[in-house]
Amino acid sequence: MPIHADIVVLPGDGIGTEIVAATLPVLEAVARRHGHTFAFHEHDIGGIAIDRHGVPLPAATLEAAQKADAVLLGAVGGPKWSDPNAKVRPEQGLLAIRKGLGLFANLRPVRPHPAALGASPIKSELLEGVDIVVVRELTGGIYFGDKTRSDSDATDLCRYTVAEIERVVRSAAQLARQRRGHLTSVDKANVLETSRLWRDVTSRVMREEFPDVTLEHQLVDSMAMHLLSKPRAYDVIVTENMFGDILTDEASMLAGSLGLLASASLGDGMVGPDGSPQVKRQVGIYEPIHGSAPDIAGKGIANPYATILSAAMLLRHSLGLEAEAASIEAAVSAALDAKVFTADLAAPGRAVNTTQAAQAVIERLG
Ligand code: IPM
Ligand code: MN
Repeated sequence: MPIHADIVVLPGDGIGTEIVAATLPVLEAVARRHGHTFAFHEHDIGGIAIDRHGVPLPAATLEAAQKADAVLLGAVGGPKWSDPNAKVRPEQGLLAIRKGLGLFANLRPVRPHPAALGASPIKSELLEGVDIVVVRELTGGIYFGDKTRSDSDATDLCRYTVAEIERVVRSAAQLARQRRGHLTSVDKANVLETSRLWRDVTSRVMREEFPDVTLEHQLVDSMAMHLLSKPRAYDVIVTENMFGDILTDEASMLAGSLGLLASASLGDGMVGPDGSPQVKRQVGIYEPIHGSAPDIAGKGIANPYATILSAAMLLRHSLGLEAEAASIEAAVSAALDAKVFTADLAAPGRAVNTTQAAQAVIERLG
């Protein structure tokens, strides 16, 4: 059934504008094919918002996002706003919109594509069949605790509540139930009190509510190693905010490029009880896991696939359009099979630019 959706578009900074501009025509092509209408509403976030409005998350941006069906985001940050003593930073806008929309579960799928295995520094035989989803807690922990700074010291508080741990573990466990039934919880329980709480709460929730899902605990340091030495051993990984940030940049090397990893930031009830996406018409944020890449910004050479794959997750999780989501994923896969690679993946002299890569996806939509 054809639907109408209001999508808030937040290009942000650096390559954010280029990859988002390349992704909108993909969404439009999907809409045309299936009779949907998508209205795109563009707003400022990050450095551009600081320049234009003096704040990294203008009230108008948050209000528009709250009213929308979904948010597509590029990236924020850049050298212009990176002075260590700056009072406002682009990244604060990103954290504030995640928190403001209550999006505590950040899904980051890692599925190395056969055609891109050669781009990974890891041996291909370790990568075949790897299919992981990292569920990163997104609105708590050290990212959001009180901070202090004096001439002689600085502090960042790491705090987690039982309720914050329970809800993200439930989302991850529901996902695991729908997949291969294996959940790995990552913490640093040998040192951190928040991790000991994390481990206790996770064990209880899993024992009481998900006896059919296998639970394994891993310390984050050894997890960082196992992720590269035996990535096939993992199904769903759930972890706190900062560990999830770090482990997913590492995990992107399994896929061959940071430019291939998409993400969905979801709130309550957005993963159905059986792990399926649940259509509550609830807003989520969809963004690539990479940053604004100031070194290549403005050149039109950034890899748009992570953003295009994030748009697929948007269709699936916020709009309930599973077939349309799958058609984008299949088209990206076909473009990769055809070795339509941007500079991060291509052999020297073989790279296509951002627009060409997106066009290759549109041509393969089926
Ligand atoms: C990410 C990014 C952000 C984060 C930055 C830009 C604040 O690295 O989405 O992974 O740390 O969450
Ligand atoms: Mn990150």
